[in-house]
Amino acid sequence: MFGRPKGMLGRFGGIIMARMNKEFTYSVIDLLDIEPNDRVLEIGFGSGVGIHRLAQLALTGYIAGIDYSKEMVEQATARNLKKVEAGLVDLRQGSVESLPFENNTFDKALAVNSMQVWSDASIGLREMRRVMKKVDGRIALGFTPYSGQSSNGLIQMFTNAGFTEVQLVETERGFCALAIAS
Ligand SMILES: C[S@@+](CC[C@H](N)C(=O)[O-])C[C@H]1O[C@@H](n2cnc3c(N)ncnc32)[C@H](O)[C@@H]1O
Repeated sequence: MFGRPKGMLGRFGGIIMARMNKEFTYSVIDLLDIEPNDRVLEIGFGSGVGIHRLAQLALTGYIAGIDYSKEMVEQATARNLKKVEAGLVDLRQGSVESLPFENNTFDKALAVNSMQVWSDASIGLREMRRVMKKVDGRIALGFTPYSGQSSNGLIQMFTNAGFTEVQLVETERGFCALAIAS
């Protein structure tokens, strides 16, 4: 219903997550200082509320999203239909462990309450770094308490994946791991 939303229950899960996680997702996006021309990647976008916000901020950029769930791709596409049809937003079903993008494509990347359900978080983080620009590419992975993700060991995990300047930021509704892809 939430981790890898599927079928009718999955669709319902998307509606619940849109309500529960919107404010936190916006706060994670704020930490990335999105610029109008930025190319941004969101992994595990779920209902697509974060994609919607990103498309408002990167008005002349490009927003891509990868989610494992067909139902979430449909829900997020419906929520962002105009921007998808205009080519500003590109939402695909897929997996973070094998991203369909060239090296050095994105200025910023994020995921909210998603890493804890990836099959292999280390491979996923390495893939995210691969597709990010190595000059000032910024990543933000946010977690609310309901994700069950502990902050223990996260700095080491990001460092092992090749990120630098890794820091953990506490916010009102959860915490966020920030780092640079250099
Ligand atoms: C708990 S939901 C969070 C959704 C949304 N970010 C939010 O905060 O409301 C986790 C999302 O990650 C996606 N996901 C799970 N494993 C994934 C993987 N290996 N690659 C990409 N997305 C994945 C799920 O399909 C789901 O949409």
